[in-house]
Amino acid sequence: MEQQPERRKRILSAIQPSGIPTLGNYLGALKNWVSMSEEYDCAYAVADLHAITVRQNPADLRHRTLELYALLLAIGLDPEKNLVFIQSQVPTHAQLAWVLNCYTQFGEMSRMTQFKDKSAQHADNVNVGLFAYPVLMAADILLYQADFVPVGADQKQHLEITRDIAGRFNGIYGNVFTIPEPYIGKEGARVMSLQEPEKKMSKSDPNVNGFISMLDTPDVILRKCKRAVTDSEARVAYEEGRGGINNLMGIYSCCTGKPMAQIEAEFEGKGYGDFKIAVAEAVIEELRPVQERFHEYMGNLDYIRSCAAKGAEAAQRISQRTLDKVMKKVGFVL
Ligand code: TRP
Repeated sequence: MEQQPERRKRILSAIQPSGIPTLGNYLGALKNWVSMSEEYDCAYAVADLHAITVRQNPADLRHRTLELYALLLAIGLDPEKNLVFIQSQVPTHAQLAWVLNCYTQFGEMSRMTQFKDKSAQHADNVNVGLFAYPVLMAADILLYQADFVPVGADQKQHLEITRDIAGRFNGIYGNVFTIPEPYIGKEGARVMSLQEPEKKMSKSDPNVNGFISMLDTPDVILRKCKRAVTDSEARVAYEEGRGGINNLMGIYSCCTGKPMAQIEAEFEGKGYGDFKIAVAEAVIEELRPVQERFHEYMGNLDYIRSCAAKGAEAAQRISQRTLDKVMKKVGFVL
């Protein structure tokens, strides 16, 4: 009998269209999406259904969704080899989320720390979608029978509840869902704010000098790097407690592939001024090809829309298999 090739492990991840990702999002997560796509069977979504848990301007949301999709192609994801799709274009996500809502307890959801934080931030719009957001995330993951989900610290609790929901459902109905595990791979860089190195780099930082956007122009990148907070030691050395310089060294290392010791040797006896310029140049070079491809794609939105449509079609086909199983188990008429 012919040997069946072993099914490659599947990874699912998603990113919300809430503005152009930062250098931190790129080095910490998106760049790994590309390397994982070489080894795993990957499904990547632009999570626009999640985005409307906070009020959105419709034209902006549409634009940002297409922009983010184009950016995913620009970083090197191949929509022919992996699923790359826009969540709202695949109806199974909302369908499964409803079913899973009915298998999730109010009490366990009330413990989600991100809900508590976000409802405090948007006290005027604490909607049920915001509350049920992790259930939609569970649907995203379980529909594709994902083995692994790469998650940052802020999404760990949501992956835990996904595992709980899946385990409970399987306990009642038999093996319907693969129980996903956190992806522990090559650790992505943890890029900190250029202004407050004790905080994670964030695109919602009110101080724009704190973050580098993936689409910042070379002169803006140079300016932000020059203004980055360091200390008064003027010594390029990676040591415990030196937040600002460690962060810049981490960025430089990530963009050039050079280990810390080599960077220390390279800048021995040089000041922060030289180093910051070198960091800026490395970041500019890292982002240049991505930005070039991005602008090309944005000049051809028809192409982007057609890739998204094909991605959605493929995602629908795969996820429908899981949804059909669920519907049958629950007792819906098929
Ligand atoms: N909630 C995630 C975030 O804001 C995005 C997301 C949606 C996601 N669905 C997912 C991440 C499924 C991993 C798996 O970062």
